Amino acid sequence: MPLTSASPRHVAIIMDGNGRWAKKRMLPRVAGHRAGVEAVRKIVRAAGDLGLECLTLYAFSSENWRRPEEEVSDLMGLMRRFIASDLDEFAKAGVRLKVIGDLSRFAPEIRGDIEGAIARTATNSRTTLAVALNYGAQDEIVRAARAAAAEGAITTENIERHLDTADMPPLDLLIRTSGEVRLSNFLLWQAAYAELLFVDTLWPDFTPEHLADALRQFGKRERRFGGL
Ligand code: IPE
Ligand code: IPE
Ligand code: MG
Repeated sequence: MPLTSASPRHVAIIMDGNGRWAKKRMLPRVAGHRAGVEAVRKIVRAAGDLGLECLTLYAFSSENWRRPEEEVSDLMGLMRRFIASDLDEFAKAGVRLKVIGDLSRFAPEIRGDIEGAIARTATNSRTTLAVALNYGAQDEIVRAARAAAAEGAITTENIERHLDTADMPPLDLLIRTSGEVRLSNFLLWQAAYAELLFVDTLWPDFTPEHLADALRQFGKRERRFGGL
């Protein structure tokens, strides 16, 4: 797909519907999460080919700790295995890994894995893959506002400089899968003028073709940013 002025630079996805995907097949929820990881692999590979500068994926929200302990532990395990099995490929493909959210709540060994992976890909520049972990937008905004206040004035620019996304391009397109039409505390600040797209596809069924289609739909939107 050629890069046109209508191509988004930064796309974010609320990857929802793993549990329902599993339920439809009478499988345990963890099977849905495993299938979700497969979808992540394919989408990350496609992101570079589709010319995205930045892809942000909502993997674990600050509210997801409310899930049963076993599910939280399954999700942590899958994340660690994903880093172990896929980091080499992504590192070679020029993907720079980044995390948004508050890592301080994770066990030290998980944090070590994540920080090691970030360090290993730090000089890559083709595509940035930002994974939202223990991420909540309200918490992010509070942290940013506190940092801005500590430096002096709380202004839009100063808050923006302290958001977890500060070094990323502005959010162009926010996609949510699974048919739910809500933001669930994701990128509330950054979504101010992003285009929103809600699709019925459950996350494990979301393919690079669906992503390409989302980019085509984005290309047809008229963005105004409050002007004419
Ligand atoms: C999204 O799928 C994955 C995470 C939140 C980690 P869900 O687990 O929320 O799946 P549903 O919404 O129950 O179908
Ligand atoms: C949002 O999905 C979080 C992630 C996709 C990681 P949820 O499934 O947690 O959201 P709600 O609870 O339906 O709003
Ligand atoms: Mg859900």
